[in-house]
Amino acid sequence: MFLQKLRLYNFKNHAEVNLTFEEKINCFFGKNGSGKTNLLDAIYYLSFTKSAFNQYDLQNVRHDQLGFLVKGTFEISNKQKEVICSIRQGEKKSLFEDDQEIIKFSGHVGKYPVVLIAPQDIELIWDGSELRRKFFDVLISQLDRIYLDSLIQYNHHLKQRNSLLRTFSERGKVDTDLIASYDLKLALAGDYIYKTRRAFIENFKPIFSKHYDFLVREPFEKVDITYRSDLRGVDLELLLKKNLQRDLLLQRTTSGVHRDDFLFTLNELELKRVGSQGQQKSFLIGLKLAEFQILATEKQVKPILLLDDILINWTI
Ligand SMILES: Nc1ncnc2c1ncn2[C@@H]1O[C@H](COP(=O)(O)OP(=O)(O)OP(=O)(O)O)[C@@H](O)[C@H]1O
Ligand SMILES: [Mg+2]
Repeated sequence: MFLQKLRLYNFKNHAEVNLTFEEKINCFFGKNGSGKTNLLDAIYYLSFTKSAFNQYDLQNVRHDQLGFLVKGTFEISNKQKEVICSIRQGEKKSLFEDDQEIIKFSGHVGKYPVVLIAPQDIELIWDGSELRRKFFDVLISQLDRIYLDSLIQYNHHLKQRNSLLRTFSERGKVDTDLIASYDLKLALAGDYIYKTRRAFIENFKPIFSKHYDFLVREPFEKVDITYRSDLRGVDLELLLKKNLQRDLLLQRTTSGVHRDDFLFTLNELELKRVGSQGQQKSFLIGLKLAEFQILATEKQVKPILLLDDILINWTI
């Protein structure tokens, strides 16, 4: 797959841009702040219907404007496809593929695979578990629609359960039947998420290690990823029931797949603590190249690889 053309209107600092690309390698040059990373983010939008960097769509609208539009023409499996993603203040985000409106965005994610490697990715190693979960969630979601739907369901029920916990604890009265109905819904989605993450990591690890080994060419460096979950050997519904008093006290759900983590290690020690800058960077690139390989194999479409300042700005 490759992106033939990209058009932007009022996307971040770009008022209007029309670009045509080569099939293999394309480079953006320009001063700091000129909008190179923003171009990569626009391409990311076409694939994921959201920004890689900003949480809210409106943050990507050019200052003092009412909306943005990103349009890409892809060549994929010898066919031309046009994808348009746009947003206007006060309206719903819209997505079109070849003039057909796409209502369910989760069905679009994964059709035009993109892998982005950016300096901010170092936070995957340094930050809390949320970013690591997000990295694997984004990847697995592109391969498994049920996984993405389960995540959406799980997060929705989790929010509702947390709000129930707050209400019950404020009123000092608990409707156990009502909370049990949420436990069941959470457990159904959570169980699928847990099993899928566990199986995925087993498949991912050898591919990742192969890329790391190739990058560092150092036989004594052994990298690993360990999946940690409250659900290991435990039924989530029972766990939620068991922890209900604690949850009521803290007014939030304290067990479940929203607390999962992926431990990154180098020679069995935590990478964050023992890895040098170069080792951490190689680890990240290894993760992303494994992501690329898995997407290419599973989707039978080579993703677009977006490299942001890969050789320059990687100061930690
Ligand atoms: N919504 C927005 N409206 C207008 N400008 C924006 C918006 N969001 C970001 N910008 C501007 O875009 C610029 C940053 O662009 P970008 O990060 O793409 O630059 P860059 O070319 O990658 O720079 P560097 O070489 O430093 O990485 C900043 O000056 C920022 O203020
Ligand atoms: Mg940049």
